[in-house]
Amino acid sequence: MRANLHLLFVVAASVAAGCGAGGPPIVSPAMVKSAQSRSPEATQASLEAGRETYGTACKKCHALPKINKYSAEKWPGYVESMSKAAKLDETQTKQVMDYVLAARASAP
Ligand code: HEC
Repeated sequence: MRANLHLLFVVAASVAAGCGAGGPPIVSPAMVKSAQSRSPEATQASLEAGRETYGTACKKCHALPKINKYSAEKWPGYVESMSKAAKLDETQTKQVMDYVLAARASAP
């Protein structure tokens, strides 16, 4: 019983720590390069705008998803459908897409 309670505490603590501590990954030069290989018009500024939108609009209904939680193949579909849920315009959707895919590609 004691052991179970302890386990419960550890799980609760790691869930709390996973929720947004530090926010989504900072835009790095490697991320800009990665984004430009998919979208030549992506810039440091457009990725930072994507990070900003992601970090605010995508935690309104649920915890901000961890970028590493989903594969690079899964993300585009999620960004597509969730950008509608979040009522993002075309530019914002593109920026979030570029940001998430670059962050995913640069993830350890
Ligand atoms: C209006 C509410 C709302 C907003 C805003 C929202 N989501 Fe969601 N999201 C949901 C709901 C509801 C689910 C679970 C049901 C589902 O999968 O459709 C979900 C699920 C998800 C999942 C998990 C899918 C799975 O099957 O595991 C991801 C990833 C996700 N959202 C990403 C995002 C991103 C990225 C944004 C910002 C662009 C965002 N969400 C904004 C409501 C929202």
